[in-house]
Amino acid sequence: MEQQLSANISRTIQTKLVLPPDTNHMGTIFGGTVLSYIDEIAAIAAMKHSKKVVVTASIDNVNFLSSAKVGDILILEGVVISTGRTSMEVYVKVECQNLETGNRTLNTTSILTMVAIDQNGKPFPVPSVIPETEEEEALFKGAPLRKERRLLYKNVNGMV
Ligand SMILES: CC(C)(COP(=O)(O)OP(=O)(O)OC[C@H]1O[C@@H](n2cnc3c(N)ncnc32)[C@H](O)[C@@H]1OP(=O)(O)O)[C@@H](O)C(=O)NCCC(=O)NCCS
Repeated sequence: MEQQLSANISRTIQTKLVLPPDTNHMGTIFGGTVLSYIDEIAAIAAMKHSKKVVVTASIDNVNFLSSAKVGDILILEGVVISTGRTSMEVYVKVECQNLETGNRTLNTTSILTMVAIDQNGKPFPVPSVIPETEEEEALFKGAPLRKERRLLYKNVNGMV
């Protein structure tokens, strides 16, 4: 029987302090730094789910809705929201908290596709996932459409 795992198995939370080397001359964090945090937490969540090494196949649109400045903290949450045969969609939410006021703002959200691989770097089957929250349930239902769109873009990119 196909193995099914709760989304809670993969749920991962990380907190990062924004430090001067991570920021531009305005003292706000580089988008690329946030992207690397997003990639890292997605990999951890996918590895918890699949118990395999994973690679990033794609990162969906990332829109930075607010900035984070030196001294703020970023709170990242990553969770597997859907699975294919060898791929996993990981939803990552990034919030920024000002430690003096306690105010939290949404920085960005993204969905990454991570693929489990074997020792030869070949895609390896993963257990399916059971969403746990209403938000995860809604994201789970949208997975087939997102996958179709992603593979369409991949094919278009491959032609140029
Ligand atoms: C991702 C990778 C393993 C896919 O290998 P492949 O030979 O295309 O394998 P397949 O066609 O069998 O695809 C495997 C799975 O990946 C998915 N996939 C492949 N390309 C994808 C893309 N661009 N976006 C989302 N999913 C993708 C497929 O849909 C399939 O999912 P499924 O098994 O759940 O149906 C391969 O392209 C790779 O290693 N890429 C480099 C990854 C990497 O190094 N990332 C770090 C940044 S450079």
